[in-house]
Amino acid sequence: KQSVKMIVGNWKMNGVSAALAQAEAIRDAVGTTGQGCRVVLCPPATLIERMQSALAGSGVAVGGQNCHEKPAGAFTGSVSAEMLVDAGATVVILGHSERRAAFGETDADVSAKVEAAVAAGLEPIVCVGETLQQREAGDAIAVVSGQVAGSLPSSLAERDFAVAYEPVWAIGTGLTPTLDQIAEVHAAVRAAIVAKLGEGARTAPILYGGSVKPENARDILATPEVGGALVGGASLKAEDFMPIVNAAA
Ligand code: G3H
Repeated sequence: KQSVKMIVGNWKMNGVSAALAQAEAIRDAVGTTGQGCRVVLCPPATLIERMQSALAGSGVAVGGQNCHEKPAGAFTGSVSAEMLVDAGATVVILGHSERRAAFGETDADVSAKVEAAVAAGLEPIVCVGETLQQREAGDAIAVVSGQVAGSLPSSLAERDFAVAYEPVWAIGTGLTPTLDQIAEVHAAVRAAIVAKLGEGARTAPILYGGSVKPENARDILATPEVGGALVGGASLKAEDFMPIVNAAA
């Protein structure tokens, strides 16, 4: 058996106080002994502190969905890496395709955020993935490899981090690549990580994200070089998320 899988729930802009009940249900199901995998929930920033209190000691970690690249200052509406740590986060998702598309984040922006996250002690999950247009043009491997090279700062060598491969066309659509396509891109991501950061980065987990559901989780998680899953919609309810966690255990 390979090293322990990492299952990350990205709640995106979903969840007010009542949603903490779902986090508590996930906590209770995972139990204090763990499930043979790492579980992380990334709620909106407003819930991080209360979720961390609810999950403390449970083995379910809490993460942010983004951070600013600067430590502090006149950046209205932004949250720094240190603020995420202060609220109880140990992980942060960076460079999600929704941030790249809707907020214009470039590889250089993502790389700067990764630097800031690592400096604050956070474990970054760096997202990459091609659009449908790029896949249909035969550019998926080149696009994703380029994003890895541009979004991972050299200082990441020797640090804990993960990369998440999320084809943009698979996010929230119910569509997924074939297992062969996932294996092909994950192999390319691995090669790009090692080319950028050296052999020491060969064990960094590469998560798959995009319409991961209870029905497909087991096969996806058994695919070569898939070190876990980044789950959106199916992470909002314990009844959907726990079968995915259990498929990884
Ligand atoms: O970060 C999570 C992904 O964007 C996947 O979202 O599981 O709802 O397709 P989804």
